[in-house]
Amino acid sequence: MSTTRDYEGHRVFNPHYLWYLESPRRDRWQRPDDVLDALELVEGDVIADIGAGGGYFSEKLAGRVGPTGLVYATDVQPAMIKALRKRVAKRGLTNVTVIHGGFHDPNLPPASCDWVFLSSVYKEIDERPAYMRKVRDVLKKNGRVAILEYRPETGGTGPPRQDRLPEAQIIAEMKAAGFSLLSRFDFLPREWFLVFGLAPDSVD
Ligand SMILES: C[S@@+](CC[C@H](N)C(=O)[O-])C[C@H]1O[C@@H](n2cnc3c(N)ncnc32)[C@H](O)[C@@H]1O
Repeated sequence: MSTTRDYEGHRVFNPHYLWYLESPRRDRWQRPDDVLDALELVEGDVIADIGAGGGYFSEKLAGRVGPTGLVYATDVQPAMIKALRKRVAKRGLTNVTVIHGGFHDPNLPPASCDWVFLSSVYKEIDERPAYMRKVRDVLKKNGRVAILEYRPETGGTGPPRQDRLPEAQIIAEMKAAGFSLLSRFDFLPREWFLVFGLAPDSVD
């Protein structure tokens, strides 16, 4: 069975492999604490975890932003929405709101987020520059976007090779959507880890 599937005409991660995203072994290469440290999140931050899957990162993000913060955990697939709601209930995550996102619109309140976080979802988004322009609208004035995506040359398990994106392509697409690269972190063995802000000439 493939790790991707067709859902409503879109090529997306196959929920059958949710166990892979949730595996405790993931921590070894994903280094979630280091990722969140790098973002320097503060209590009270509002973060959209777009394409949250089963909420592996949403729960950790919720811990960082605390009771005065908020995490919007979104996904387009009902199976993932169900898994997210289950996690929120089981863990008592009072600062996580689950949102059913659209393929062409994140369905988030305008100017609401300090951060938009995309872990292994960017490549699944159709018409990325148009979608990311909508992401601009959900960011607060100094909001930022973090993108984690598999490197094409990485071995081992992960998304199909043909779906993986070169770093330069991600940066070029984000530039086309009105973002500029603020930071790039090299400590993840399998993934690009890029942080973008609104490009100065794109601030409304
Ligand atoms: C590989 S999984 C990653 C899940 C999670 N971010 C993680 O790191 O564990 C990609 C997820 O993105 C979702 N997805 C794909 N396109 C999306 C879109 N346009 N908006 C929101 N979610 C999307 C898929 O349904 C899937 O759950």
